[in-house]
Amino acid sequence: LAFDLLLLNASLLPMSATPGCATAMRDGALAIANGRIEWVGRTDALTDEQIGSARQVADLRGRCVTPGLIDCHTHLVYAGNRANEFAMRLAGASYLEIAQAGGGIRSTVRATRAASEAELRDSVAPRLENLLAEGVTTIEIKSGYGLDRDTEMRMLRVARSLGGSIPVDVVTSFLGAHTVPEEYAGNPDRYIDFVCRDALPAVAAAGLADAVDGWVDPGGFTAEQIRRLFTVARSHGLRVKLHTGQFGTVGGPPLAAEFEALSCDHLEHLSEDDCVAMAKAGTVAVLLPGAFYYLRETKKPPVDLLRKHRVPIAVSTDSNPGSSPIQSLLLTMNMACVLFGLTPDEALAGATSIAARALGLQDRKGKLASGFDADIAVWDCQQGVELIYALGTRPCLAVIKAGRVVRDRAGLFTSDDAAAPRGSAAAANHNRAS
Ligand code: NIG
Ligand code: FE
Repeated sequence: LAFDLLLLNASLLPMSATPGCATAMRDGALAIANGRIEWVGRTDALTDEQIGSARQVADLRGRCVTPGLIDCHTHLVYAGNRANEFAMRLAGASYLEIAQAGGGIRSTVRATRAASEAELRDSVAPRLENLLAEGVTTIEIKSGYGLDRDTEMRMLRVARSLGGSIPVDVVTSFLGAHTVPEEYAGNPDRYIDFVCRDALPAVAAAGLADAVDGWVDPGGFTAEQIRRLFTVARSHGLRVKLHTGQFGTVGGPPLAAEFEALSCDHLEHLSEDDCVAMAKAGTVAVLLPGAFYYLRETKKPPVDLLRKHRVPIAVSTDSNPGSSPIQSLLLTMNMACVLFGLTPDEALAGATSIAARALGLQDRKGKLASGFDADIAVWDCQQGVELIYALGTRPCLAVIKAGRVVRDRAGLFTSDDAAAPRGSAAAANHNRAS
């Protein structure tokens, strides 16, 4: 069997044990065929013949190799920005006060409704590029700035279309129940009726959503309102997830657990009973330190309780124009450690294997293991902790997506190797290295 691509002498962080990325596998090798990881092991376990017959070989000389990063919670498709609200909050206004005065999510809804599909696509591409430059290969994108049927569907179509033109896998979530739009002000139940009877069925029929999301919190919807939404989601065969516990405790996690939600997200306000329910349901806790940071919150998610009850912990940017205008998953992983007390191991797992689980992709993504998708990042460091430790260093050297080299900033995979006769690729790489 000939490999399409062989990585040699890498410090591999396979993320296949949980946790277990502290120690990289030294002198690791990884073989790719047909877009999948075929084999993972030690370089010296490979025969000369295996190396010689590979179509392309790269000697990584000790550099770290991880699964491609996964950003499992973003609101990347939107129009406009809310820099003015950032300034208002710095001057003392709170996020919920701004929302109650018609700003917040509603302000982005006004801008997004006014934007064409092409305008939305043009504005999201550079945001996505910023994430991909840091080794992200899979991203979840939510709707939730339309809050009418057509704009919600437009957002989801834009999100879906990105995966076709950019080397990234996009998973979509329908977030019609993000907030009550202006035209339903004071009538949250009537708005939920609309979402359940009109918007969600249309989104489901068009196959535009992989999951259904909502917001249960003070300032958001009640658990009873979202129960109706989740019941309709289930009737369409869609998994659910929930924004909850950002500002208070109003019954989000138990509801999510009852519906075997993929994830509960935010969770600064979370009880021990909530953790037990989530653990039992297999629901992932997605921590969003960017929103905590930007809103200058002080209450942290109870990481000790999550650990105690073995609730899997993911970390995500929550990239959005209001509470978390962040387009860096590495920065977010650093924040998860510095602000929330995650270990670097937990943060790495939280942006790879556990993030995959939050998207229901744990059998295909987030690990370097045979049979998994060959989505891989190569880093300018020797140990995983270096990815979390420094800020602003642009450590991602190369990205492989579905077995194809899609980014190669340091010429690790330059094509004179690919063009060289079979058998000499490894030698060519060694020559250039010296
Ligand atoms: O995840 N909490 C609700 N939703 C978003 C904020 C969206 C916005 O402010 O535009 C969040 O933080
Ligand atoms: Fe969010």
